[in-house]
Formats: sequence, structure tokens, C-alpha cells
Amino acid sequence: MPFRTLDSLDPRGKRVLLRADLNLPVKEGRITDMTRIERLLPTIRELADKGARVILCSHFDRPKGRRVSEMSLRPMQAALAEALGRPVRFAEDCVGPEAEAAAAALADGEVLLLENTRFHAGEEKNDPALAAGLAKLADVFVNDAFSAAHRAHASTEGVARLLPAYAGRLMQAELEALEAALGSPQRPVVAIVGGAKVSTKLDLLGNLSRKVDVLAIGGAMANTFLAAQGHG
Ligand code: 3PG
Repeated sequence: MPFRTLDSLDPRGKRVLLRADLNLPVKEGRITDMTRIERLLPTIRELADKGARVILCSHFDRPKGRRVSEMSLRPMQAALAEALGRPVRFAEDCVGPEAEAAAAALADGEVLLLENTRFHAGEEKNDPALAAGLAKLADVFVNDAFSAAHRAHASTEGVARLLPAYAGRLMQAELEALEAALGSPQRPVVAIVGGAKVSTKLDLLGNLSRKVDVLAIGGAMANTFLAAQGHG
């Protein structure tokens, strides 16, 4: 599957909208697992070091189109800045005048984090107006949110149609790993799938089951299958 990577992007002086997955596990206001931030750092660093003006956007939890203070991305600002070793600015909205002013104020190499995209109902509906609002902030779009790429939302699918779009390094690594495992694999192939939410993974499991020799299901969603088989 052909896709554009950062190898073909000269981001110097460009405003780059970077879709990340900052849906981190948080308990009592504290991040309990930094893996998603750590996996994102190479893309942010590469873009910023090459002189891009990096505008990060992400969803966090499921606020269903409302502003829910516990679901603000604000706590991620300090975590990102510390992990990156450089300042990260924050805008209270992901579109509109405040986001536009914050994006316009960025200098080359600076990083801005936008508020939760799911504070807008249009995000999950892939509303073209929200996608256009996001596209207005930037010159190019880079998607590094592989773990949210199964959702056709305004900040994943919609905006990719409006700006020149590239895969970030994390997305690239995941797509290359998938291609190596499923495109022309050495058989037998065993897929091990975990996670908490089976409802949103049924299509994926159906697709995988046609491609692999063994499908092992773990994590919390294994319980759903055990229950369906009549176990307590
Ligand atoms: C995840 O944590 O699985 C991703 O961020 C997607 O979140 P969602 O299931 O709420 O869309």
C-alpha cells in the first residue's frame, strides 16, 4: 500500500497539523502510562528539528461533543514538554479564533497542543466544517495516530482530504509491520490481539481471521468470548 512519509516532506517554516493519539490512561489526574507519548516523540522531534511549526491534535476519552473538564488535554501539555525537553504551548480549543491565533503565533520549531477534538460533536461525525476548521490551521497534515486510524473522524479522515497528508514515523512503522505480517507473510501466521473494547474491533478481527492461521484473543475482551461460550 503506497503512502507518503516524512521522507518526502520538507516541513521548514510550514504549519504541520500532527494527529496524535494522546488518549493516555489517567488516574486521579495523573498519567499512569507514558507509552503513547514516548512512541510519538520521534515524529515531533524530527518535524521540529527540521523547522516545522508543529500543531498537535488528539482526542481524549469520550466526551461526546461536550466540554468535560476531566477530559481536557491540558495535563498532557506538561507531560509532553518534559518528555520532549522543549516548551509546548496550549490552545483551549482545536478550531476557531483561539486555535488560529495560537497556530499563527508559532515560530519554526515550536510546538502547540490543541484541546480535545472530541469536545466538538463534529469530530466523531466526521463533520466537513470541523475538518475545514482544522485544515485552516495548517499547511500539511501528518497522521501518527495509528491507534485511532480505525475511526473515520474529522481529525483523522476528514482533514486528510483537505491538506497534503503524510504518515508520521509511528504510523509508518505500524503500516510497515502490518504489511510484513499480513501482506506476504511466512506461514504459519499467528495474530495476538488484546484490548478492552471488543465491540469496535469485530470488523478488524473478522478481517484478520481470514488472513492468519491462528487468532489468539487476550486482554479484557477475551472475557467477552468466554462469556459467549457460556463460561462464567
Ligand atoms: C484507544 O485508546 O483505543 C484509541 O485512542 C481510540 O479510542 P476510542 O476507542 O475512544 O476511539
